[in-house]
Amino acid sequence: MEILRNLHSYLAYVVLAVLIFAVFNALMGWLGKRDFTMHKDLRISLFALILTHIQLVIGLIVYFVSANGLKALQTLGMGGLNSAARLLAVEHPFTNILAIALITIGWSRHKRKQESSAKFKSIAIFYGLGLLLILSRIPWAQWFN
Ligand code: HEM
Repeated sequence: MEILRNLHSYLAYVVLAVLIFAVFNALMGWLGKRDFTMHKDLRISLFALILTHIQLVIGLIVYFVSANGLKALQTLGMGGLNSAARLLAVEHPFTNILAIALITIGWSRHKRKQESSAKFKSIAIFYGLGLLLILSRIPWAQWFN
C-alpha cells in the first residue's frame, strides 16, 4: 500500500514533466507550422498518454485503499471533510479522471486528422487543458513535505 502511494507520488514528477514537454512541443509545432513526425511528435504524445494512464491506474488503486481516499469520504461524508481532506478524497481524483479523459480525446482526435497543424492543435488544446486541470488540483502541501 505504502509502496503504491510512493510510486504515485514519485511518478507524478515524471508525468508532469513529460506532459508539460508534450504540450510545449505541440504548441511549438502548431505555431511554427512544422510537420508532425512519427519518430518525434507521435512518440512524445504517446509517451505522455501512456504515463498519464499508468498514473490513473495507480491513482485509482490508491483511492480505494488509502485512508485519505474513499474511506475518508465514507467515514466523514462530503460535509465532514475539511478543504485539505476534500482535495485528496474528491477534487484531485475526479478532476484528474476528467483531465486524463480530455488527454485521451486529444490523442484520438489527432489520429483522425490528416494535416500536421490539426494534429498539433488537437494535442496542444486537449493535453493543455488536461495539464491545467491536473495542476489546479495537485495536493502541493502534502507532496512537498
Ligand atoms: C496525472 C495524474 C495525477 C497526478 C500528476 C497525481 C499526483 C498526485 C500527487 C503529487 C499526490 C500527493 C502524493 C504525496 O502525498 O506525496 C497525489 C495523491 C493522491 N492521488 Fe493522485 N495524481 C494523479 C491522478 C490521480 C487519479 C486519477 C487518482 C484517483 C482516481 C488519484 C488519487 C490520489 C489519491 C487518493 C491521493 C492521496 C493519497 C494519500 O494521501 O493517501 N490521483 N496524487
